[in-house]
Amino acid sequence: MKILIINGPNLNKLGTRETDIYGNQNFEHYLEDLKKEFEGVELMYFQSNHEGEIIDQLHDTESMDGVVMNPAGFSHTSVAIMDAMAAIDTPVIEVHISNVYAREEFRQKMVTARNSKGVISGLGLDGYRLAIHNFLKGN
Ligand code: DQA
Repeated sequence: MKILIINGPNLNKLGTRETDIYGNQNFEHYLEDLKKEFEGVELMYFQSNHEGEIIDQLHDTESMDGVVMNPAGFSHTSVAIMDAMAAIDTPVIEVHISNVYAREEFRQKMVTARNSKGVISGLGLDGYRLAIHNFLKGN
């Protein structure tokens, strides 16, 4: 099983960025925990602050069984990322660390969600784990 995690803009700042909302854990540390927990899974990680790079990465997922993606701010704005999700066969589970429905109104609309297998929002970094579990269950 090969799973790619994609994190969008500003998520390279996790651990120090708005810690009251996103917590104080750095994603690279969390990724080490994930790799230990899912030893049998080939887990890959890509983070970018650039829309086009995220699109290129989505196009490059033919060999993957699933993508766990937090498009971050692009979730609310990027028709191009939404289209890239529709253009590939690999299922994408969308994760948001915070509960976007409990935040500003502009965060409550996610254009990317329509092309996601499902969306997990508000469960902190645990959302990434749960998404991987769902791919492993295979339904
Ligand atoms: C986020 C929520 C987005 O609204 C925000 O722009 C982010 C992170 C989350 O993980 O909760 O950067 O996707």
